Formats: sequence, structure tokens, C-alpha cells
Amino acid sequence: MPAPAHTTPAPQGTAAPEPQAAAPAEAVTPLIRGVAVLRRLTEAGGTLSPSGLERATGLARSTVDRITATLAHMGYVRLEGRDGRDVVLTPRLMELGNAYLSALRLPALLDARADALADELDESVSLAVGDRDGIRFIHQATRRRAMSLSFRIGDLLPAERTAPGPLFATEWTREEWRSWRERRARDPKDTGFPAIPPRRHTDPDDFAERTARAARDGWSLDDQLIEPGLVAVSVPVRDPATGRIACVASVVSHTSRHSADDLRTTLLPRLRETVAAMERDLREPPPPQATPAPSDLATWTAASKQELGREFVESLARGLTVLTAFGEDRPALTLTEAAKATGLARATARRALITYEHLGLVRHSPDTHTFTLTPRVLSLGFPPLSRTSLSRIAQPHLDDLAAEVHESASLAVLTPSAEEIQYTARAATTRIMSVDITVGTRLPAHATALGRALLTSPPDTPGEASAHPYSLVDSELEAGLRAIAVPIRDRAGRTVAAADIATHAARHTPTECVTLLLPPLRETATRIEADLHTASRFTRVPPT
Ligand code: PHB
Repeated sequence: MPAPAHTTPAPQGTAAPEPQAAAPAEAVTPLIRGVAVLRRLTEAGGTLSPSGLERATGLARSTVDRITATLAHMGYVRLEGRDGRDVVLTPRLMELGNAYLSALRLPALLDARADALADELDESVSLAVGDRDGIRFIHQATRRRAMSLSFRIGDLLPAERTAPGPLFATEWTREEWRSWRERRARDPKDTGFPAIPPRRHTDPDDFAERTARAARDGWSLDDQLIEPGLVAVSVPVRDPATGRIACVASVVSHTSRHSADDLRTTLLPRLRETVAAMERDLREPPPPQATPAPSDLATWTAASKQELGREFVESLARGLTVLTAFGEDRPALTLTEAAKATGLARATARRALITYEHLGLVRHSPDTHTFTLTPRVLSLGFPPLSRTSLSRIAQPHLDDLAAEVHESASLAVLTPSAEEIQYTARAATTRIMSVDITVGTRLPAHATALGRALLTSPPDTPGEASAHPYSLVDSELEAGLRAIAVPIRDRAGRTVAAADIATHAARHTPTECVTLLLPPLRETATRIEADLHTASRFTRVPPT
């Protein structure tokens, strides 16, 4: 790959004042811009107005509009808000981070042991990988405690303010230490790390010493370097083939429960046992699961160009699909393999990969002639999207459904006793009954279509229609009220919620409910499930 010739300043308004190397001549400009839009949206928490995006990226409004129209067509953002103008990241975007996490394999191989340790200790446990001079989380088993910050999958922290950092730094080259010192000089307050509070001038500057100690001890501590009260202890998980650090496992606590010193005596021994078990697991991993390559992408983008014309930036759509070519059974791809997996012309795939290498999203290994994804792929949406819930996933789809059929649409779950349903999301058009249903309302399960869909749906039935068997209830709760509901299933085929359309008997006969309302309701259920399945591949998605 051509070496960067000189540097240009970072675009205005970015959190990280990181100098950017000039793009190689073959890099795809729309792809660089599309990635910038996704990163600024991620840093902003998932939502920006087009003018906010203009400011954050330094791009012209017409460019922002074409990029967001393309991303919206791909299902990676939604345009919403009162005037339909806010740009919002969608759960679908998580397929990019999922490609990295599944190619890496570590979350799938190690998460059960991390979760079990968190349960046993009743403390948060995380897995992190090194990302240049930072650490990035790839798994979180988080306790719900309000006392300190908890990090999300994809969050990037400066190595020197963490427990895992000194362990990773034991493997840094001189070049990596140099770029760490440059970053410290350029950004003394850590403004390039939006997940943490700014650094205080009183914070210790003893990273080299901590690294030497970590090399000697094989473990490392964070004694309130991120914020007062937050303490952590970390142990490296080594790749049995190379002996190098694959990831670092940490137990995170609070000084109200453990001082940094007693983390060492109380929690470190259990963490070390877990890490030893993780390293045994890595010695004999199960064979990777084969996933079909997304090879129809080239045709898909060509059809979209036909349909949308100038507003569809084909090179951006084609480029983004290259990231989805990676996965558990395709962790490293040659150029030929990347082109084949996506159905793109070799020259197109090559330019996309050159662009990603320039952006630090892909690494090229000259020995094997292969490309791999880097942890930075998680900066494309993962932190804000990994903290979603089923009700938040469902809301925009229910809004679309209610607007289409001009009736109220809702999502509900079963309460633990299974005797009641509880509404968790709702898109109301008109009020058709005397009971005022809002999110949180509970109703008897047996008397409602939602409750019956939740109670009676058979597990895991294959096929489109049978996957969404419907329940129709006439005069439910009060005379004249009619509702039709279908189950919502998780990745394992278990019913986790139900969606319904409620109408008045005078507006739709029972037959019309089935012929007119059921098809769009089923489509909505399918969309909610698609988002749920993408979002829950590596994160737990709670009902609300
Ligand atoms: C740390 O403070 O070093 C730390 C915090 C949270 C984690 C891991 C490490 O999950």
C-alpha cells in the first residue's frame, strides 16, 4: 500500500484532534466521507441533525444529504423527528461490528466464562483488546449499579488510565510508545476519548512504571484512574499458538466494596483461575460456523442506483458491504476472496480495502496477502447501539405500521407470573377505547390478543407465516374493540414479546383484520426480529 506522503488536519468539530495522513490516490472519497458520518454519529450518541453533521464532518450539506440518503437506503440510519430530518443510527448497523467480533471469535469462545465469573463475584467483568494506544471492549458482563461508569462494547479508553493498558503495553514496539507519547502531548485532557471524564492535572503519570510492574507480575491494577471510586484488576488471556496477548479480562469494582489493594487478595485469584480456563478453551476451539457470504451485494447496489439515481452513492454502499464479507469462517480474506464473497469487481474491492487500511479499519498482512478487520470497526455505531432494548428497537417499526394502517400498534411482554401482559412500546393514532393504554399498562393476558400470542405460540416453527401465527380477539376488554397480534421471537426462536394492531369493530370485520391488517403486522414483526437478531448477536438486549 502507498505510504502517506504528508498530513492534513482532522475535520473540524471531531472529538479527537488526531492528525490524519493524506489518503492514497486510489482511496474512495465517498467511502471516507460515509465512514466519517458514521463515526461522528456514534460519538454524538447515535443522533445528529444534518446541520450538526455538516459541522462535525466539515462536509457540504448536499454531500451530507446524499450520504445519509444512501445510508438510509442500506438500513444503517433512519431519518426521523418532527420534520423527518434527524439522522439516527439503526440496529442494523451493528452488522459491521458483528463482522469484526465474529471474525475475532474471542467473544463467542470466552463470554460464557466471563459471565459466570461476574455472577459468582457479583462484580462486572469485561474483555478488552488493544487498539493502538488504547483499549477497546469486546465483551461486558455488567452489574447494574449506579455508582460508577460502566463501559459499552466498542468503547475506547486511553491505555494509561486503565488496568488492561499496562498489560498490552508490555508488547508495544518503540514506534507504539512514540505514538502514545505524541497522543499524550496532543491531547493531555483525553478529549479524544468520549467514554470517560477528562483527565485531571493531578492524575499520576507513571504508565511506564506500571507497564514494567505488569510485565513482572502478570496482572495489573487501576486504582481510580478513570474516576474516583472505580477500581479494576486485569489479567491477560494469551493466544496458546503465539503466546501473545489475545485479550485482557478484568474485574471492575468500587471502593465502597473493595480497595484496589484487596482486589489483589480477594478477586485476583478467581480471575486467574477463569483466565487459565479461557486459555484452555482457546487451545481447542470448536470449528468455525459457516455463514453464507453476502454475495448478492453487487446486484443489490446496482438496482438501488437505478432506483434512486443521483441520491444513491453506489461507491459508498459497495465499499461498506466489503466489511460484511468477514466473519467467523472468513476471519482473513485475500483480495480475491473479498471480491468473491461480495460479488464485487476485484478493482472495486481493492479500492475499498485500500480505503479501509488508510482509515485503520482493516490491516493488511504482506506475508499472507490477507486483510483482517481491526477493533476500530466497533467505532462504527457499536457503543450507543449496544445499549438498546427491545422496546426501543420496536418503536420506529410500530410508528411506521400505525402510520400505514391508521390504527394503534403496540408491543407487550408477559409479566413474570404470566397472568398479565405489560405494554412496552406503543404507537397510537386515535383513542378507541375508554381505558387509556400507555407504556407500562398491565392487562389480563388471557383476554387480549397480545397475551394469547405470547402464551400460545409454538416454539421455533419454521416458515414465514407459521413463525408468526396470529391471535385475533373480538370485543377484548370492552365491547367493540378488536385486536390482532403476532409473537416476536429471539435468535433462538423463543417468544419474547408480541406486537398487535388494535381497531374498532366498526372499522374492520374479523376477516378484514386477517386480510388487511395481518400482512403489514407480520412484516413489522419480521423487521423487529431482524433488528433484534442483529443487536443480540454479541450483546444482551433487555425488554425495556
Ligand atoms: C479500568 O478501569 O481499567 C477498567 C474499567 C472497566 C473495565 C475494565 C477495566 O471493564
